[in-house]
Amino acid sequence: MAYVNDHYLKLKAGYLFPEIGRRVKKFSEEHPDAKIIRLGIGDVTEPLPAAVREAMHAAVDEMGQRETFRGYGPEQGYDFLRNAIAVNDFQSRGANVAADEIFVSDGSKCDTGNILDIFGLDNVIAVTDPVYPVYVDTNVMIGRTGNADEAGRYAGLVYLPVTAENNFTPALPTQKVDLIYLCYPNNPTGTVASRETLQQWVDYARKNDAIIFFDAAYEAFITDPAIPHSIYEIDGARECAIEFRSFSKTAGFTGTRCAFTVVPKGLKAKSATGEAIDLFALWTRRHTTKFNGVSYVIQKGAEAVYSPAGKQQVQELVAFYLENARILREELTKLGLKVYGGVNAPYVWLKTPGSLTSWEFFDSLLSKAHVVGTPGSGFGASGEGYFRLSAFNSRANVEEAVKRIQGALS
Ligand code: MLT
Repeated sequence: MAYVNDHYLKLKAGYLFPEIGRRVKKFSEEHPDAKIIRLGIGDVTEPLPAAVREAMHAAVDEMGQRETFRGYGPEQGYDFLRNAIAVNDFQSRGANVAADEIFVSDGSKCDTGNILDIFGLDNVIAVTDPVYPVYVDTNVMIGRTGNADEAGRYAGLVYLPVTAENNFTPALPTQKVDLIYLCYPNNPTGTVASRETLQQWVDYARKNDAIIFFDAAYEAFITDPAIPHSIYEIDGARECAIEFRSFSKTAGFTGTRCAFTVVPKGLKAKSATGEAIDLFALWTRRHTTKFNGVSYVIQKGAEAVYSPAGKQQVQELVAFYLENARILREELTKLGLKVYGGVNAPYVWLKTPGSLTSWEFFDSLLSKAHVVGTPGSGFGASGEGYFRLSAFNSRANVEEAVKRIQGALS
């Protein structure tokens, strides 16, 4: 018999969202008439912007003509998209990122896991707690942790609590760590990091020869002009950070799939022999070996996000979800709940009422209001007693969910 990767056996039963899916499926089988509103997984509901669809239609027609048909594209992405990203997402904000430092991919979830391929197993990893579960699970899978304890914390990882007590701002690690995951605007808490906070992280990383994995998948939801959108807006970040971005939440691409990762040239980590190695070269090798590029049609759709019409339509889409977040935030606050996030992010993070655990509140909302959220404890031990609601849904569903939650809590 062949051997399995034993590290997978350390993983907790199921990835959070499939586990929620199983519970919701069971509930709806038992209550077939219940009209369930899903504010759990952050999956978009509104249609793709018109500019994106038009660009995709035109690209499909190009693929139908011998003269304009395309087979394999460059694994790192077509220049037209990489240029548009570099100019609009970075250079326009004063961030020094060149088009050829951008690697187009099919998702930030995949990229934040895949990036581990180019880092040694001896690195000490720091994650915030609660955290997007993919960061932890992919490190478990690759063998960088021991087993989980009762609360779900894996041996070998450095957890940095983010709770109301520290205003959702993690303290810098007190020990030396090598790789640090930061996600801003934050999933799951919906909070943001100021320029000063990010500068402290960059300074820590440079001082400790650490690398920051900066997940900026939700940057389009930043409404406060003082909050940086990219880690590269911070002095020194090119020497210590890799950034992950996505079209999923910005432009409704969760089903369409297009994202990108920035690896600055000159960013280095060391080999077992102590030699400084260029991460750009390693990631290029990894990406071009294991990935064959995002399809031309989808990349043309992504490029259209940066056209004048595309920009306008994406702004409207983001504003639509932010208005949902406002409704959730304000209405739930009126009910006496302690509510965080939801101003510069599409997630609202709330303290569960009374002494309910996150899963008890999940079950209670599902059974009494037929509303699905995400238990905070599913994002980490320090998420216990918290609950996440996603603003990704129709206006009618968000308003109805609020009414039902009011009913369930009164
Ligand atoms: C979430 O709900 O946390 C996100 O949808 C997960 C993801 O983007 O993979």
